[in-house]
Formats: sequence, structure tokens, C-alpha cells
Amino acid sequence: VKKLGLLYEGKAKKVYATDEANTLWVEYKDSATAFNGEKKATIAGKGRLNNEITSLLFSKLSEAGIPNHFLQKISATEQLVKKVTIIPLEVVVRNVVAGSLAKRLGIDEGTPLETPLIEFYYKNDDLGDPLLLEDHIAILKLATSEQIAVLKELAFKVNDVLTQHFAMRGVRLVDFKLEFGIDAKGEILLADEISPDTCRLWDMETNEKLDKDVFRRDLGSLTDAYEAILQRLGGESACI
Ligand code: C5P
Repeated sequence: VKKLGLLYEGKAKKVYATDEANTLWVEYKDSATAFNGEKKATIAGKGRLNNEITSLLFSKLSEAGIPNHFLQKISATEQLVKKVTIIPLEVVVRNVVAGSLAKRLGIDEGTPLETPLIEFYYKNDDLGDPLLLEDHIAILKLATSEQIAVLKELAFKVNDVLTQHFAMRGVRLVDFKLEFGIDAKGEILLADEISPDTCRLWDMETNEKLDKDVFRRDLGSLTDAYEAILQRLGGESACI
């Protein structure tokens, strides 16, 4: 597969066309952003860590039968994925109260939820990614009610697989964000990334945060936290 022109550059990734129809080339960048781009930094090694972690987690989800865009990791910071049209929704699944939910409802961070909660946010930087009701999704014509049902079913399946996968490695999956896309055949596929940038991951024994909150809240070294997650997942670490 040959890399062709740049199609899109986001906060954390660059996406290129390839000489194969329906295949994209994704490069993970060393940049970290938070609060809708207000806080920014370059962190050497972050691109490699998120590429490795996302590749391991998508491979796990493929084994579990979850339809997704991942094809293969091709270098430390790059992977090939199937081309999809991204549905502009951020699908957030929560197992423990944290972040914006703690703030919105006034519940202490760390309070477990009896059943997982799903939320939809509008992927729109100008509007600051607002929380959406299903009726808002219909008004905006972002997805049909049938598609919303599929997104929910897939998101809960991902939650089951990843909660167990992390738990066996001593990590609590507190919450995470997924994105989905529609491929050339019209099928809904899990897309984007799943990494400590998009999940809250807490050490089960110490409650140490091993995710992007380390950067958002200035809690220490982001690369140490992400490296710890990669090692627990059994990935190749640059330090060993
Ligand atoms: O900020 P909030 O508590 O709503 O985030 C819920 C989860 O979704 C967190 O794991 C966070 O990292 C993730 N998220 C994300 N991208 C966003 C918003 C949230 O990956 N734009």
C-alpha cells in the first residue's frame, strides 16, 4: 500500500489517502490537546503509545466480533484503516462517575454506576461538543433511530469486552468515547481510536489515573501513564 495525499489533519492524527480504494493511512501525532484545544502541548512518544494501544484494543475487539475499521499497524506511529464516513457523534459509555458527568449531576467522581450509562455528544468544535438527546440527533439528522439502536448495542458490547480485558490487567475502565462510521457497503463500523486519550483508566488498587486526565489536570508524566497501560496490555514498550 502506498501513502498518497493528506486528507485531514486533526488534533491528534493525520489521515492520508492510499493507492487502495477504501483504505486510509493514519499517523498518530505527538500532540496533546484538552478543553476543546485551549490547552496544548507536544509530548514526545505519545503518537507511538496511542498507535500501539489503539492497535491492540481494536485487534481484541475484532476477535470479539465487533465490526470496526482497523486493518493493521504498519509502523510505530502508523496504521491502516478502512475508509468510512464518520457519524458526527461522540458516543460516551460510563461505568463510574467522572469528568463532565460528576460536574453536571453533582455526584462525586469515583461513584460506581449500577448499570453502564450511554451519552451522545455532537462532534462540533464550534458548539463545544454539546450533549444531545436522541430527539436532537433526529432534528440534526445525524442518525436514524435504527442506527442509534445499533450504536448503543455496539457501544455496550465494546464496554463488556474492554471492561473485562482491562480488569484482568488491574485497570478499571471508568468511561470512554467511541466514534462510528459508515463504510462503502453501508455498514456501521467502530472507527477512530481507543487509547488513554479517549478513555479514563484507573489502577484498580491505587486509583492512580493512567489516562489523559494526567495532562488535563497536571498530575505528572503523561508518557509514564500511557506506557504503564501499554505494558499492562502486553504491548512492546520503548523502555524495555
Ligand atoms: O469529559 P467527559 O467526562 O464527558 O469525558 C467522558 C469520556 O470521553 C472520557 O474518557 C474522555 O476522555 C472521553 N472524551 C473524548 N473526547 C472528547 C470528550 C470526551 O475522548 N471530545
